[in-house]
Amino acid sequence: MVSNQSIYYCYPVFRPPSEGNSLLIQLTEGCTYRCDFCVSNLRKNFKVRNLDDVKKDLDIAYRNYSTHVRKIFFLDGNAMVTPTEKLLEITNYAMSKFPNAQRVGVYAHAKDILKKSDDQLRDLSDAGLKIAYVGFESGNDYLLKQIHKNATKEDYINAARKLMKANITLSATFINGLGGSNNHDLSKEHAIESADLVNKICPSDNRLWYISFLSLMIPQGTVLYEKKQNNEFNEMNATDILKELKMFIEKIEFSNKEANCIFRSNHASNYLPIKGTLEKDKEEILELLNYGISHKDILRSESYRGL
Ligand SMILES: C[S@@+](CC[C@H](N)C(=O)[O-])C[C@H]1O[C@@H](n2cnc3c(N)ncnc32)[C@H](O)[C@@H]1O
Ligand code: SF4
Repeated sequence: MVSNQSIYYCYPVFRPPSEGNSLLIQLTEGCTYRCDFCVSNLRKNFKVRNLDDVKKDLDIAYRNYSTHVRKIFFLDGNAMVTPTEKLLEITNYAMSKFPNAQRVGVYAHAKDILKKSDDQLRDLSDAGLKIAYVGFESGNDYLLKQIHKNATKEDYINAARKLMKANITLSATFINGLGGSNNHDLSKEHAIESADLVNKICPSDNRLWYISFLSLMIPQGTVLYEKKQNNEFNEMNATDILKELKMFIEKIEFSNKEANCIFRSNHASNYLPIKGTLEKDKEEILELLNYGISHKDILRSESYRGL
């Protein structure tokens, strides 16, 4: 029977593209951070919702979708900030409600992963929280400071290791073009330090982990949008973005040659869709990038790019 009660959402909601078919549950609203490029913190006062209300949403979802739910994603931009007892309680509730659910996923700022102990992360993982989407954005500390990310390369290394230790899958995103068009050296450092970060967190076993690159978009309302309006920030062009990504790929060198790192740069913001496994597919990815660099006509046009 389909219930006529509806699940609560505070729009716009924020979820990774890969969670498009998941049951989306509004555990938090907005975000506690203020990164210069991001819209997740705009027009929403941050809150962790009352758990009884979240449970009611899960009950409604159960009446509507029951056995069809395979994956659950707790909204919004950074649900890992939820105090551990609450996150544990709602993860347990969600996983026990849906017999075919395989996992719960959340967005997670590195600092909020680091605030949780190894035991707390393990408890969350055991309860069913099995994937965390972490916005690394860059491995370059100067750039991270510039965009007010409130995290460092070292934080990312430690957060990634903590997740892996707790058996929570890491899905990390970087942003190409983050330094703008005026500073070639910064673009180079962004690529090199990001590759170094990824090399350093490569696990020694063959578990799956995910590294994705988006290309910078500048949505209205963000600090970066203001900077662009004031000519304090100029966007990098498509070819330079591909060259930056090429430099990143060239510098990937894993100590574990059997690593299962799924690489994606096929988001709607990207100029050239790329998918592969690092570092196994390194040469093919570089070939594709070279082709894109020399054939501008095959690149996604600006009007088709989006977040
Ligand atoms: C909604 S955020 C959540 C990430 C999480 N709160 C964190 O900071 O770790 C998801 C990711 O989308 C990407 N993103 C957000 N705004 C973007 C923009 N304007 N251009 C390109 N990528 C963007 C960033 O990689 C960001 O980390
Ligand atoms: S990138 Fe993540 S931490 Fe930064 S404002 Fe957006 S959602 Fe919050």
